Amino acid sequence: MGPRAPGDVADILNVLGLPGMTNAERITTGWGGTAIWRMEREGRTEALRIFPAGAHEARDREVAAMAAALTGGVPAPEVVPAKSHPTHPAIVTTWCPGRTIAESLATAPWRARALGAAMGRTQARLHRVVAPEIVRRRSPDWVAWAGSDEDALGDRVRALPLRPDALLHLDFHPANVLVEDGRVTGVVDWENTRAGDPRADVARTASILWLARQSPELPRWSRPVLRLLETGWRQGYRHEARAGHETGRVTDMPLFDAWACAAMISDLTPKVGMPGVWIRPEDLDDLRQRLARFKRRAGL
Ligand SMILES: Nc1ncnc2c1ncn2[C@@H]1O[C@H](COP(=O)(O)OP(=O)(O)OP(=O)(O)O)[C@@H](O)[C@H]1O
Ligand SMILES: [Mg+2]
Repeated sequence: MGPRAPGDVADILNVLGLPGMTNAERITTGWGGTAIWRMEREGRTEALRIFPAGAHEARDREVAAMAAALTGGVPAPEVVPAKSHPTHPAIVTTWCPGRTIAESLATAPWRARALGAAMGRTQARLHRVVAPEIVRRRSPDWVAWAGSDEDALGDRVRALPLRPDALLHLDFHPANVLVEDGRVTGVVDWENTRAGDPRADVARTASILWLARQSPELPRWSRPVLRLLETGWRQGYRHEARAGHETGRVTDMPLFDAWACAAMISDLTPKVGMPGVWIRPEDLDDLRQRLARFKRRAGL
């Protein structure tokens, strides 16, 4: 997907009106739908995100989400103004300094709790931001992400008093949050952004942290480290949410946790066996068991 060679990247940049790239390196994870390049241009390090053909709305949504986050005091990449590309919607942004929380955990595991707290505080701040119109337009039904097999669960979530307009990231995890000297320098990867109730984003992060602990690629020592990170994340989130007087919003979590499990099942089922994706059929079974547990707790 997307251009494969730095020469193709240079062609795209020329159309965007952003020439001068001297070095481009493809960053591949295999999970997302966007091609990410790290590049040098005019003495600066920048990120180039190339979207699937025709995904102009997705591009504009990510631009708006990052701008809204920045305005709301949440660090995010700054978008470099550019012309539109007719076939390859793309964004050039600043490259945020530091490294991801995931990378920091590997070299400084003893900082897991503090890193988690920084991550949680940033997410709570994000949830104070009102989603821009183009993000809200996508989201009248974020609940439907749980899939059509989960109508009863969806109906229960929809029946709750929900906040409709908070800016949600929905992929807020340690590989998408950059830190330097203990401070968050950027939240990246806004592909899933939607408007909705903050509890959905909290449940989504919890389910991603749970999934990360299942990975067969994970060294044994890192499971307790991920648990510490999660403890710090929950504390940091709660602390910052309280500081913003957002109390009484942590009710009904089993329903949101069930929703996040169901969303993850529908998201990952087609990805099993794809290059770079470690998810095995037995991991989906574990997820289904987790979903069943949360449903029971929610009285479903
Ligand atoms: N603007 C940026 N500044 C610093 N690092 C970045 C930036 N954009 C991307 N990265 C780095 O590249 C990695 C991959 O980028 P990104 O998370 O956007 O795509 P992805 O992981 O392929 O998507 P997905 O999480 O959906 O699989 C990030 O984890 C981060 O390390
Ligand atoms: Mg990512």
